[in-house]
Amino acid sequence: MTVLVTGARGAIARAVADRLIAAGHQVRIGSRGPIAGVEPVTVDASRPETLPPALDGVREVFLYAIDEGIADFLDAAKNAGVERIVLLSALAVTSTDPTQKVLADRHLLVEDPIRESGIAWTFLRPGAFAGNALAWAPSIRAEGGVAMPYPDSYSTPIHEQDIAEVAVEALTSPGHEGAAYSLAGPESMTRARQVELIGDALGRELAVTELAPEQVRDVPPFLLEMMARNREEPTDGGPTIADVLGRPARTFAAWARDHVEDFR
Ligand SMILES: NC(=O)c1ccc[n+]([C@@H]2O[C@H](COP(=O)([O-])OP(=O)(O)OC[C@H]3O[C@@H](n4cnc5c(N)ncnc54)[C@H](OP(=O)(O)O)[C@@H]3O)[C@@H](O)[C@H]2O)c1
Repeated sequence: MTVLVTGARGAIARAVADRLIAAGHQVRIGSRGPIAGVEPVTVDASRPETLPPALDGVREVFLYAIDEGIADFLDAAKNAGVERIVLLSALAVTSTDPTQKVLADRHLLVEDPIRESGIAWTFLRPGAFAGNALAWAPSIRAEGGVAMPYPDSYSTPIHEQDIAEVAVEALTSPGHEGAAYSLAGPESMTRARQVELIGDALGRELAVTELAPEQVRDVPPFLLEMMARNREEPTDGGPTIADVLGRPARTFAAWARDHVEDFR
């Protein structure tokens, strides 16, 4: 069997591909662009002609939720004889919080046609990635701190290796067909606490400066609204990492230690 891992420049796809290769599976790396040290096949959902060659001989696919071209992708996957798709979706699809509707709709545009495609599927629905904290790396490196809106906003950050481990399990073991897994880290915490834990990994204290939302230009308005809402109540931790993998989810402190060089 060959597993196609699409979106290979993304952190989750990279971790999925590394784990599959380490476990001895036949892996095809797919991306829109070049990757150092690898020769990826071109997979671009907005260019349907790239799909049949990338899917030739493939039985399992790890897919990012790109709604553009999903119908073409599923046609090409059916023609190639793909048997299983593991989709990286988002926890937002399960939320009734109106601030999450933009995110939910974007992912449902991909979940729904896959569900109707006749190909076996597993949906991974993670909440906030721990890796979002990498956006703070430049200012932590240059200034020893972060200026951010809503430092008191909660999330339950999840380690990319936990998502990847569940993806590999779903791609390579039976029993996950038709399952939609909500995935969260083990602990709800504020953004300021995340910075503190990165500081612990670095062995120094980092400054957090609060910005008014009007001062922030590079964050989409719906994300600012989500942050504002999540100041009121801690977001839930999810039990599913433990359910699927039989062990607790990796902590944010562990994520910070794994990525400490990015912040030095
Ligand atoms: N960030 C979070 O907290 C969070 C939480 C829950 C869910 N998610 C979801 O996780 C996904 C990835 O998020 P991210 O922040 O990690 O984004 P990212 O790093 O930008 O990754 C997006 C991936 O999509 C692939 N891609 C983009 N356009 C494509 C196209 N036309 N055809 C094929 N592949 C394409 C890219 O692959 P190449 O560049 O290699 O082609 C890239 O690896 C998103 O769907 C997001 O909604 C994110």
